[in-house]
Amino acid sequence: LSITYKNNFYNIHIDKIIYPGIGIGVLDHFQVEVPNSLPGDHVTLKIIKQYKTHLVGKITQYIQKSPLRTQELCTHFNDCGGCQILDIAYQDQLLLKQNCLEAYFKDYLPNEKISKIIGVNHVLFYRNKMEFAFGQNENTPYLGLKKRGHFDQVIPLEDCLLQDPLTPHILKFTNQYFKSHTLTAWNYHTHTGELRYLSIRQSKTQSEFMVSLVCSNDKALSIYKEFSQQLMQEFPQITSFFLVINPEIGDTAQGKTLKLFSGKGYLQEILGDLKFQISPTAFFQTNTKQAYVLYSQILKIADLKPTDIIFDLYCGTGTIGLFLAKSVANVIGIEENPASIEDAKQNALLNQITNVEFEAQNVKNFLKFDPRQADCIIVDPPRDGLIPKALKRIIEKNPKKIIYVSCNLKTLCRDLLEFQKEGYQFSMIQPVDMFPNTWHIEMIVKLEKIS
Ligand SMILES: C[S@@+](CC[C@H](N)C(=O)[O-])C[C@H]1O[C@@H](n2cnc3c(N)ncnc32)[C@H](O)[C@@H]1O
Repeated sequence: LSITYKNNFYNIHIDKIIYPGIGIGVLDHFQVEVPNSLPGDHVTLKIIKQYKTHLVGKITQYIQKSPLRTQELCTHFNDCGGCQILDIAYQDQLLLKQNCLEAYFKDYLPNEKISKIIGVNHVLFYRNKMEFAFGQNENTPYLGLKKRGHFDQVIPLEDCLLQDPLTPHILKFTNQYFKSHTLTAWNYHTHTGELRYLSIRQSKTQSEFMVSLVCSNDKALSIYKEFSQQLMQEFPQITSFFLVINPEIGDTAQGKTLKLFSGKGYLQEILGDLKFQISPTAFFQTNTKQAYVLYSQILKIADLKPTDIIFDLYCGTGTIGLFLAKSVANVIGIEENPASIEDAKQNALLNQITNVEFEAQNVKNFLKFDPRQADCIIVDPPRDGLIPKALKRIIEKNPKKIIYVSCNLKTLCRDLLEFQKEGYQFSMIQPVDMFPNTWHIEMIVKLEKIS
């Protein structure tokens, strides 16, 4: 590029959207990537990055907003990082997601057919877990969500349509409580301050809440204890309260130490005819109602036989394996978080399912040292996908079928190409919308060995 675009301002039209939700316009034949834009937006932007092949712009003004933006449901929407497409009608959200993922797959696997995304019945109040960050306004800490595109700024929330109508009341009560104390919010630059997060988990089927206050240290223990007592008195729906200590610089709501201050210490969810116990550190699909749809689809797509042995790798609290257990001979579930495995074992007992076995293990080690074979291997890895050794060892196990569940198209497509090289073909690619109002997409892919 001989022309300098960087730091200059331009008016452009956004023509399309690409995964993971980035608007695309054209400037002098260069593609411009524009976060926070939609097809049909006409915007003024500043070019903030200039590459040989493309430019990146930051919107400074919307000249005309896309006709797709038809809803104004939340006053925080323009600033808040919690939702990205809450202003689009749900059917249009689904169409855009479908277009995005089809275009993305075309670059990697151009010949594959993608099924129609399965939408939700409940577009609002669907999350069973939210992590609200503390921000600081002069002398007063407050709770909110990260400002869109910023890791270090928290916008105060009076309302939120993501979890439950009770949640904003819990936030308000917490703000009120800490107003009269000298504690301060965690500062993302100086790494000082005590109050980091308030994590609120809710059982959608039992309407009970588990709250964790995440602090950098426990010097103000008596204050935290008093807060937990007052909070639980005010909201009897909260049946567990944890204090989590995270002194690390890394920005997470998880911590090394976890103290149960009050209550039973876990939540229970019901999916179909199964009950699940969930500990505070255990992974559980964030959209309970749609998790049932996801697991039902996995069961349908896997097309299992009563004699089948299946591996449920990255099994969390054992949900997928337990869901499939009655259709097969044996399930072996592997997960590295010991608390999740304890939950998984408990869940097997709770549901009187005896043909499952859960082990707290790293997937790559399990695959290396366990001699057993599986008819079907189910993998549901974290966002990073399969590490090369795990992928290689799955291929060495030579299963006839693999079901790959993924929340990240990038690592999914990368891994699918590897499986394809080893002779697997894709007999079903089924998107499921787990996260309305955001760009996230969950995928189920069925791979079968061509013999
Ligand atoms: C996306 S969650 C899947 C959970 C489960 N399948 C469900 O639907 O609830 C990914 C899980 O993989 C686990 N995990 C991450 N890396 C792992 C590894 N190397 N070996 C075993 N488990 C791992 C995480 O602790 C997490 O519970």
